[in-house]
Amino acid sequence: MSGTVLLEMNHVRKEFPGVVALRDVSLELYAGEVHALLGENGAGKSTLIKILGGIYAANAGNIRINGKPVSIHSVQDAHHNGISVIHQELVLVPHMTVAENIYLGREPVKGNRTVDFNRMNAEVKNILESFELDIRPDEEVSSLTIAQQQMVEIIKALSFNAKILVMDEPTSSLSEKDVGFLFDTIRKLKAQGVGIIYISHRMSELKQITDRITVIRDGAYIGTRRTAEVSNDELIAMMVGRQLTNYYTRDFGTPGEPVLEVRNLSDGKVLKDISFTLRQGEILGFAGLVGAGRSELMKALFGLWPFSHGEILVNGKKALIRDPEDAMRLGLALVPESRKLEAIYPEMSVMFNITLKTLKEFIKGLFVDHEKEKAIAREQVENMAIKTPSYSQIIGNLSGGNQQKVVIGRWLATKPGILIMDEPTKGVDVGAKAEIYAIMNGLAGQGVSIIMISSELPEVINMADRVMVMSAGRITACLPREKLSQEEIMKHATQFTV
Ligand SMILES: Nc1ncnc2c1ncn2[C@@H]1O[C@H](COP(=O)(O)OP(=O)(O)OP(=O)(O)O)[C@@H](O)[C@H]1O
Ligand SMILES: [Mg+2]
Repeated sequence: MSGTVLLEMNHVRKEFPGVVALRDVSLELYAGEVHALLGENGAGKSTLIKILGGIYAANAGNIRINGKPVSIHSVQDAHHNGISVIHQELVLVPHMTVAENIYLGREPVKGNRTVDFNRMNAEVKNILESFELDIRPDEEVSSLTIAQQQMVEIIKALSFNAKILVMDEPTSSLSEKDVGFLFDTIRKLKAQGVGIIYISHRMSELKQITDRITVIRDGAYIGTRRTAEVSNDELIAMMVGRQLTNYYTRDFGTPGEPVLEVRNLSDGKVLKDISFTLRQGEILGFAGLVGAGRSELMKALFGLWPFSHGEILVNGKKALIRDPEDAMRLGLALVPESRKLEAIYPEMSVMFNITLKTLKEFIKGLFVDHEKEKAIAREQVENMAIKTPSYSQIIGNLSGGNQQKVVIGRWLATKPGILIMDEPTKGVDVGAKAEIYAIMNGLAGQGVSIIMISSELPEVINMADRVMVMSAGRITACLPREKLSQEEIMKHATQFTV
């Protein structure tokens, strides 16, 4: 870390209707430094960097770059000042190609002033190859996986040759391999003197890649520490304002009868001869690398992914699940993984987004029972500790993590017998993770059977009764609790990929 101060944000304040998102927050970034911004969901991290990126105007405060005051009123202003931002929400244009997205607004032109697609595609091809990404420049973004889209966002931000690079949860959907590439890239940029602001809820990443960590809480600046000199416990206490005991809550019982049996399920593409059993009151973990087929399997159980062979039994009876309606009638719920893209109606209220799957409970013919509707919303807002000024707030205005909690609440509201959660704690803060674990434990205690897909091995190991491991579309192990360790899981997770 060299000693020159590249960026200062001083005494920044930002208000939204009914919410003070930032009160007097300051941040200082050195050239060649990776500086983490850490805080609970809704603390104000994305708001601060949206001010830096020219998306929001601050109500007070100032920004200096290389000691000189700058005014940033638009994304273009930010670019001109050498600032490039990878936002938490993906902002690619789905129906344009990868290359078009990367060069949007600054396409190379030929002599006759038409866009030089050949040059554009060739340049993007080189970049994609240098990242060893299996993506074509002329592919439409909408046909990419979420992880691939995230890598395209990253490449796009890098292509501006910025001096200040901001990454708001860049790794939330990435595989281990892609995270490795990203970190290599970050190290190279550091060596070139680029300053990087890095936002992530994954403490292990912060320890690995950052030099200093600034914590904000409820829009207030709490403090800045050198990563090498601060413990996780101290950071958590700074974030949540208290010590966090009982991170994982789990009272193991004896699981009951099988409630869900999957036999020899195949789809001729991804899924290969999958069989497993879920018992009443059990938490069954699903581990594996990104792309192992776990999400596809869960979609198949929920009528969202066709399969050609095999059968599904619910409570001992053969089940015909053609669509999510069938699945819900059988008592299933699926909290999907890519909540940002699939599950949210961004222009609608928090209440609408929570009660979406429980309309039948308060709409009878033409009669709408608004009290009941509110009661359902209230239960989940309290249950999940969703930070929102009101039930009528537009969900798109909540912080990323709080939007995710709304989607989890939506499915909990259906009171399922079988709850499938695909990466339930992705993007939520440590305190909220602990709350989600406690909720899962409570549900299992009441006899709800839970399938938990997770790429965070410590959480599967601590929460699950048993763990199924998948590799390349197959089940490669069924590990009882006594046998669970990261090494054991990884051994089976990489069985068909190394
Ligand atoms: N456009 C907006 N309109 C109204 N309120 C907003 C808007 N954007 C953010 N907020 C509010 O400002 C606060 C800070 O939100 P922000 O998105 O900065 O949180 P965050 O720290 O990035 O959280 P997360 O970890 O969940 O992404 C929250 O209370 C949020 O609801
Ligand atoms: Mg955010």
